[in-house]
Amino acid sequence: MIERGLERAETQAVILAKNLQDKEAVLPRTWENGQLKTTTYSGWVSGFFPGVLWMLYGETGRQDFRDFAEEFTARVEPARKLTNTHDLGFMLMSSFGQGYRLTGNPHYLEVIHEGTDSLLTRWNPSLGVMMSWNPNGKWKYPVIIDNMMNLEMLCFCSRTFGDIRYEDIAITHSKTTIKNHFREDASTWHVVSYDPEIGGVQVKNTSQGYSDDSAWARGQSWGLYGYTMMYRETHDKAFLEQAIKIARFLRDHPNLPSDKVPCWDYDAPGAPNTQRDASSAAIMASALIELSQLDPDAEAAGWLDLAIMQLRTLTSSEYLAEPGEQGGFILKHSVGSLPGKSEVDVPLSYADYYYIEALLRLKKLVGSDHTI
Ligand code: GLY
Repeated sequence: MIERGLERAETQAVILAKNLQDKEAVLPRTWENGQLKTTTYSGWVSGFFPGVLWMLYGETGRQDFRDFAEEFTARVEPARKLTNTHDLGFMLMSSFGQGYRLTGNPHYLEVIHEGTDSLLTRWNPSLGVMMSWNPNGKWKYPVIIDNMMNLEMLCFCSRTFGDIRYEDIAITHSKTTIKNHFREDASTWHVVSYDPEIGGVQVKNTSQGYSDDSAWARGQSWGLYGYTMMYRETHDKAFLEQAIKIARFLRDHPNLPSDKVPCWDYDAPGAPNTQRDASSAAIMASALIELSQLDPDAEAAGWLDLAIMQLRTLTSSEYLAEPGEQGGFILKHSVGSLPGKSEVDVPLSYADYYYIEALLRLKKLVGSDHTI
């Protein structure tokens, strides 16, 4: 399964890179109605395709992957100065972070450092959270669960530059989010908007989910991945406990289909027999593989089993594109925003990114002394 997935990823990534080579300054987003849809550096998904190329370079050592990875990473660079978005961790860690891990290029480190300082312009120490989206008519200070994913870059900077300030902010954001973003059953709201004047929560809503009270699938996966990552980075037991609570909620959910690829929202009408979201499964599988190595309890083996079931489904012909299919994207059947009628049942660059990350995490375990 791992080899089949990675080989297909290699074939597809070259096709997609060649499709984009002569188009200046853009990066892939999706393939819809037979057409490649792109973003610029400022879209939240800009870093994922460079990240795919870096991971494939790391896996194969092939020079063409490195050349493509360098070229597409450079297209993301202007993001380092953005202060109007919280997505800098997604954009820069998947591209420059992967590139730095594999090459040690000091320029890549500089970009990450500046991008992290740009991200910190969105930190409010009184509220204890970073702002996700800018205020609008509805929300005064919106924070989305996805923001947990941007914290890895803060932890990375503390570790690399010896400045604990970054990690302290990541820890505080994570703890405030445990307090305000999660329901009794460990499912998460998508959007929690704070009120800086009263210093607390304004309102809890959704944006991409079925309803304010539903469990939007990708949001649950971001939470699981985010707290697993924060435990890896800090060894704070509160984060491990949160990750395990989320994992149990997802594992035991009556609407998780038997092939373990979630529907776009666990509470969507018709679930579990409605539109699937492969991106949620890929993110969740990658997180569960890591969690299986961090959770000291017997339950940990189950996290790995569940991840393997998800990867088997994603690697089947139902989800894995045929060579040359859908412009070079790897996985089929993801959902960007169903309520927004945007990117429904299409490939998405982040589904591909976390799918490859999950396969590589699993491959590393297979090649080690860990019990599978
Ligand atoms: N961070 C946006 C999304 O997951 O759709």
